Amino acid sequence: MRTETGQVFHLSDYRPTDFAIETVSMTFRLAGADTEVVSQMTLRRRDGVPTDAPLVLDGDALQLVSLAIDNETAEGQRYEVTPDRLTIHDLPADGTFSVTVTTKLDPAANTQLMGLYRSNGVYCTQCEAEGFRRITYFLDRPDVLAVYTVRIEGDRSETPLLLSNGNPVEAGALDGNRHYAVWHDPHPKPSYLFALVAGDLGVVDDVFTTASGRSVDLKIYVEHGKEARAAYAMDALKRSMKWDEDVFGLEYDLDIFQIVAVSDFNMGAMENKGLNVFNDKYVLADPETATDADYANIEAIIAHEYFHNWTGNRITCRDWFQLCLKEGLTVYRDHEFSADMRSRPVKRIAEVRLLKAHQFPEDAGPLAHPPRPVTYSEINNFYTATVYEKGSEVVRMIATILGAEGFRKGMDLYFERHDGEAATIEDFVKSFEDATGTDLAQFAIWYHQAGTPTVSVSVNYDQRSDSLTVDLEQSVAATPGESAKKIMHIPLRFGLLLEDGSEAEPAEVSGARVDGDVIHLTERRQSVVFKSLGGRPVLSLNRGFSAPINLSFEQSSADLAHIAKHESDAFARWQALNEFAMRILLDAAKLSRDGRTVAVDPDLIAALIASASDETLEPAFRAQALSLPSEADIARELGSNIDPDAIKRGRDAVLAAVAQALKPVAEKLFDEMATPGLFSPDAISAGKRALRAVALSYLSIAEADPKRALGVFDEADNMTDMASALQILAHLFPGSAEATQALAAFEGRFGGDPLVIDKWLSIQAMAPGADTLDHVKGLMETRHFALSNPNRVRALIGAFASGNPTGFNREDGAGYGFLADQVLAIDARNPQLAARLLTSMRSWRSLEAGRREHARAALSRIAAAEGLSTDVSDIVKRTLA
Ligand code: PHE
Ligand code: ZN
Repeated sequence: MRTETGQVFHLSDYRPTDFAIETVSMTFRLAGADTEVVSQMTLRRRDGVPTDAPLVLDGDALQLVSLAIDNETAEGQRYEVTPDRLTIHDLPADGTFSVTVTTKLDPAANTQLMGLYRSNGVYCTQCEAEGFRRITYFLDRPDVLAVYTVRIEGDRSETPLLLSNGNPVEAGALDGNRHYAVWHDPHPKPSYLFALVAGDLGVVDDVFTTASGRSVDLKIYVEHGKEARAAYAMDALKRSMKWDEDVFGLEYDLDIFQIVAVSDFNMGAMENKGLNVFNDKYVLADPETATDADYANIEAIIAHEYFHNWTGNRITCRDWFQLCLKEGLTVYRDHEFSADMRSRPVKRIAEVRLLKAHQFPEDAGPLAHPPRPVTYSEINNFYTATVYEKGSEVVRMIATILGAEGFRKGMDLYFERHDGEAATIEDFVKSFEDATGTDLAQFAIWYHQAGTPTVSVSVNYDQRSDSLTVDLEQSVAATPGESAKKIMHIPLRFGLLLEDGSEAEPAEVSGARVDGDVIHLTERRQSVVFKSLGGRPVLSLNRGFSAPINLSFEQSSADLAHIAKHESDAFARWQALNEFAMRILLDAAKLSRDGRTVAVDPDLIAALIASASDETLEPAFRAQALSLPSEADIARELGSNIDPDAIKRGRDAVLAAVAQALKPVAEKLFDEMATPGLFSPDAISAGKRALRAVALSYLSIAEADPKRALGVFDEADNMTDMASALQILAHLFPGSAEATQALAAFEGRFGGDPLVIDKWLSIQAMAPGADTLDHVKGLMETRHFALSNPNRVRALIGAFASGNPTGFNREDGAGYGFLADQVLAIDARNPQLAARLLTSMRSWRSLEAGRREHARAALSRIAAAEGLSTDVSDIVKRTLA
């Protein structure tokens, strides 16, 4: 959050700073509301900078105590200071000089959770993107890399732990029950990677020996008493360290690696050099309190933050426009890690579901932006699905185009060239071009153009010549600020499946370039002709979701069923089944909108039964195959004039028909997929639990009876089974005695554990129907909720606004009004959280007219409110534009 409103930043305005900061030596005197920070910087005027150019340091709501230049108190006429800027004149023309800034802070009053704040009494910092300027005046931008030495002084009882980046150097006692510790980080870093933590926490210790034989101390700090719940995170950390050595040849570079779990955090976690700070939700897990999804998230996020040590920290970003240089690449790396740790196709299905659920709507709405934007007014609002998830897909496409070996060569060159630097997307792409001799100029458009491309496909098989012609055409709809779109390089993996399920190997291929199983679509319209196929093949296109596109391909249901049955690429099997189901669900939504009865294509049911009962398929895959597209998925495909109630009615009718037909299979799976004995969070056991939960949900629908789910809930010995049964009870049988009983039992058992209660809040917030709003309001009044804690807000209000299509989009617009009230209330204390919550309104123009007008009114009320943060004002303006 910034106080100057209306400022817009442009990539084209980039220029380096006039001064370099070489070293920073800081002292933090932690003392509650009288906390003092002394920062002594060694600076140097850069070559060619005019000798009268002043040093202009960033601040945000700072209070200056004193200023010294070369250790002499600065005279008043030498500088100008406001809470947001410190300008210093008459500095040396050459050589180094020092500037010492002393500021005073009240961490407990910092409710934005940016800069130095307190979470459950623990002092902690969050500096990305622009939090460091809330601690001291600084050149707070990612291209200013300095070596930090940090001394922390604090009360021995309140803060026995005093942590910062790098390696520990010294520690000792001070007068008055106080003590100090000194940390030194030898790796030059930008200020956004700075971190400090001080408090009283428990620790889990371990050691990792790197490939070259160095021993690294590993420490995870959590609330006292929760140490046992950090075991899985520690295991994931060691596997991540090993994986980065094995797959990318990257070793850790300090003597110690630390992770701290805090309970008040705006995001998932933060990759501060050598001292990652985590939302405790992504550290703590045990069978009783965490679901399989929690375990998978912990593994992925621990890996993500660790991988940032090279992609983000050793090579950082030149400016914030380059955010996806570190985020897209690091997401790609954590996706690959999880794929190696678990099932690759199942992981890919989960990624694509998430991409379509979050990134596609973003790219199709008012907040669309390219992965590498050229303008922003609030950088906090660019930590988006596009920068992260689409950014990762773009890296994946580079790997598809270059192949594994070429990709690794490019990565190696990138590290060789840019280690220790602040780099750009152009640097990154050039490394791949130079390492492999490939021209990626057209491909790079993916970084610079917003919107999801649509590829329209038609096929024509000529029996006489045994040849298949595939006609492809690409287009991208206009997005805000970009009306004319460029032609992109779209790599489409494919397969040609013959009638017996085997793959055709055409003797001749002509037209667009085809490399192995990749068609390179590089023009607006292109054709590929495959000859001598050995019969009419079914084209399976965009295998593995090789390109993040919408496919417009009128494939027959029989062809989709053929792919679902025979593809060697498991992801493509799921994709075909999902596409088949989507068609039926779209029809159902339209029929129920017109008040007509819904009939379900028996071929879909047959295909679902076939997948469900195919024991050669892993349970986790079968669970995905049986999980039909969500109401939100259907809304996205419809694209306009959306009536969430009609979508739900249609989908429920389809589910009911499927459930009836699937009953015997579901019954069998329900028995066979039980996982008795000691709980193990491994992917195979998790897959069985997932499949059993899907079976339970179909059975509950078919039986129209909550008893079976209540039985599972009562007998569950782990949170995965318990939470899935509770969700079935609360969503399929709302208000039933069984649902009420289970919700009360859950609250009674876990009432003292906020992270577990978050699940209870979310499940209730997502219960379909117009009545849920009042229930959510009621939950806000209980002791379980706090507007000050981001996890609680997301679990209740976030889940309601983004995970409850019929409840949130109530016909009378009350859901939107409620969200507006909450956004305004939260904005006063935590703008970042408020702005993120508000993005749940981004697809408002796709609603049917009545709801659309209610949504517009709620958005306009926010826009008209006084004292909006730049975060919320940026989102609301773009959403209404
Ligand atoms: N850089 C963090 C990550 O993705 C995300 C983050 C951004 C956390 C801003 C806090 C604040 O790993
Ligand atoms: Zn990241």
